[in-house]
Amino acid sequence: MQNNMSHFSLKSLFGAVFLFFAFSFGLKAQDGAKIFKQNCAVCHALTDQKLTGPGLAGVAGRVPKPEAEWLSKWIKNNNTVIASGDAYAKTLVANNGGVDAMSEFEFLSDADLKALVDYVIAPPAAAAPVANATVATEAVEEVKGGIDPLYLLLGAIVILALVLGALRSVRHSLQNSYNRREGKAETPEITFGQEVKQWIGGNRRLVGVFVIIIAFGGMKSCWDACYDLGVYYDWETQKGYHPDQPIKFSHKLHAGDNEIACQYCHNSVEKSKHAGIPTVNVCMNCHKGIQTGPQYGEKEIAKIYAASGFNPKTGVYDAPENPIKWIKVHTLPDHVYFNHSQHVVVGKQECATCHGDVKKMTTVEQKSPLTMKWCIECHRKTEVAMEGNAYYDRMHKALKEKYKGQYDVKFTVEKIGGLECTKCHY
Ligand code: HEC
Ligand code: HEC
Ligand code: HEC
Ligand code: HEC
Ligand code: HEC
Ligand code: HEC
Repeated sequence: MQNNMSHFSLKSLFGAVFLFFAFSFGLKAQDGAKIFKQNCAVCHALTDQKLTGPGLAGVAGRVPKPEAEWLSKWIKNNNTVIASGDAYAKTLVANNGGVDAMSEFEFLSDADLKALVDYVIAPPAAAAPVANATVATEAVEEVKGGIDPLYLLLGAIVILALVLGALRSVRHSLQNSYNRREGKAETPEITFGQEVKQWIGGNRRLVGVFVIIIAFGGMKSCWDACYDLGVYYDWETQKGYHPDQPIKFSHKLHAGDNEIACQYCHNSVEKSKHAGIPTVNVCMNCHKGIQTGPQYGEKEIAKIYAASGFNPKTGVYDAPENPIKWIKVHTLPDHVYFNHSQHVVVGKQECATCHGDVKKMTTVEQKSPLTMKWCIECHRKTEVAMEGNAYYDRMHKALKEKYKGQYDVKFTVEKIGGLECTKCHY
């Protein structure tokens, strides 16, 4: 913990640099074109052409008004729209041979959904051909080979430095032999550093241009190279962190001994980005009745009553509420996007894979490092859960049909774009 300060400032620095470049490259999480390509292009073209789904040219003009609202609802969960009795939705399904073949996209964030709808309503003209069939080929090509441009750049810099060094000593001895002939004093040997400083002082504008070219040209290849070189960040982590909480709440007692389901308390874990921490009302469902505990008697449970303003003597809520201030155990930096429902529902990952055996913990402890390396290593080795997963069943079938006999692809998370910077970074 002592040397955390230096880590912290280094991390913030990298964070700031990262964000700067993310913006300079115009990479945004809410990039409609990209979301479309990743989720929709297997089944939809932006032209009139029908793939598995109808061609989306002019779709804004034919769906019920207000079109943006209808489209958001449809894309998010077409089943609800169909079930609501929407006449247009029924025609769509009827025109598709009576089969509702479109997947649901509950996991899209509001911002992503909005970007996507804007894009579907008014795609830039150039985007149309892209939509057709590039998805799977791209997924396959993601794994690149060949010499990394970063190595070439580094090689060039080293050679340049050697040449400069050699020229410099040649020039120095020429200067001195000239001085000796003219009867002047020898030029004092200045260090390379001093010389560089003098040169920069005299050529500020040129240096500026160089820095910009190197920064922009180099960054792109550095980014791509990040993975191939295996250089991703794994600084000292918070693994093992287990703060004392304001109430001695035990997962072992609740989720273990009493077998209360995780989702009973973390009830948004399957529906949203956040698992959520239960409010005191959830505790009160049981603790209105359960007033003493096996280990601490009335002492700890009394804190639940203080928080909810409940008087156990009278059974009435007559005091002011005073929410429990739980201390957060797991924290990702603000620029990282992590979604529980995508991992738990779509990806079929167990809580314990990332959080350890919480059922045995009296105080929750962070079991995984939560570093970028950790996320990426899992994305590299974990196969996307296809079996019995409606979303991928359809997508997979569509892909298989399209690339019959051409590829035999093993679908890890990496292959569906799980290593792309913008998937995890805002
Ligand atoms: C697995 C194939 C599939 C995927 C993936 C898919 N759709 Fe669809 N989509 C369909 C089918 C099929 C229909 C026709 C209605 C039906 O059968 O459900 C449809 C209908 C639509 C319609 C109505 C079209 C019209 O003519 O009015 C829109 C809009 C739409 N989809 C948008 C999207 C968007 C946006 C995405 C990506 C988030 C997406 N779809 C992903 C198959 C798919
Ligand atoms: C009776 C309610 C309840 C149940 C059941 C429950 N939890 Fe919790 N959980 C909490 C509360 C309250 C906190 C916040 C206090 C703490 O960290 O101990 C919490 C915190 C956590 C945290 C740490 C959150 C953070 O701050 O980063 C994790 C991880 C977690 N729970 C996972 C689980 C898992 C996995 C299960 C099922 C095996 C489960 N919980 C079952 C109430 C519950
Ligand atoms: C579904 C029912 C249920 C919910 C919800 C629930 N508890 Fe409990 N709680 C229990 C049971 C059962 C016991 C154990 C009683 C016993 O064994 O005597 C208990 C015991 C306790 C104890 C006593 C521990 C001890 O050893 O003395 C504390 C403190 C506690 N719970 C806190 C909470 C908090 C905080 C929440 C809300 C985040 C919560 N509980 C939600 C059922 C629940
Ligand atoms: C793929 C790994 C992974 C899986 C699977 C997973 N979690 Fe998490 N969980 C995380 C990460 C990462 C965080 C930190 C999120 C943040 O800071 O934004 C977290 C945070 C939490 C928190 C703190 C509150 C919050 O929403 O940030 C709770 C509670 C929690 N998880 C419960 C669960 C439960 C319950 C399950 C199983 C149903 C589960 N998690 C499955 C990785 C995972
Ligand atoms: C235990 C393995 C595991 C870990 C650890 C893990 N993930 Fe994932 N992740 C998955 C799986 C499996 C999927 C595929 C879900 C699906 O089918 O869409 C996924 C998908 C994703 C996606 C969507 C990718 C896409 O192309 O649609 C994002 C974003 C993501 N994870 C972020 C993270 C972040 C951020 C972390 C680290 C904090 C992390 N994941 C850690 C297993 C993991
Ligand atoms: C699967 C998810 C995932 C992907 C893909 C990903 N990152 Fe990260 N990245 C993370 C997580 C999680 C952290 C936070 C690590 C920590 O706090 O220790 C992080 C941290 C960083 C940091 C350090 C910032 C800081 O504050 O610690 C930089 C820089 C960074 N990522 C750049 C990139 C670049 C460039 C790419 C694409 C080549 C990329 N990331 C792809 C998950 C991801």
